Amino acid sequence: MVEKKLIEQKIGEAIGLEKAAQKAVEELKSKGLIKAEHEKKLVPMKDEPNKQQREMEELIEKIAENEGFDVENINSVSEETAQKVSKIMETYLGEEPDTQEALEFLCLAEGAEVTHYEVLTSVAKKVKSRKFGTQVRKILKEEHNHLEVCTKLAKQNVIKE
Ligand SMILES: [Fe+2]
Repeated sequence: MVEKKLIEQKIGEAIGLEKAAQKAVEELKSKGLIKAEHEKKLVPMKDEPNKQQREMEELIEKIAENEGFDVENINSVSEETAQKVSKIMETYLGEEPDTQEALEFLCLAEGAEVTHYEVLTSVAKKVKSRKFGTQVRKILKEEHNHLEVCTKLAKQNVIKE
């Protein structure tokens, strides 16, 4: 029982981070913190989380009964996580954020996504559905790529500012 709850929590957190990632790029853009030259490079980080979130939610919906998952619990954890990340972003950016800080916040968020999907590859060992592990590993690869993109931008931007 404890294990099921823990698995649900880990899945919820990962989905919540996807929700937050989409919002973060949008918000940073609306605050004028994303430079035009960076925007194109950040597109996958804005568009892919939406696809990843949908794919995860659909998969969970499909396997929930067989795995004994409480979908409502997963949804409430993901909502809570997304809200927490929004607060973290606000705190991180502070009063007068600049592009460098915005890029570094994205690195922080993508780093968290990498970690959470790494954790889910372990969790996958406790999930009967093979598709779950395949899906998690696929997203993990994309997250590694996101982290690499924003790290590169943060490294380039800091010597331009
Ligand atoms: Fe990501």
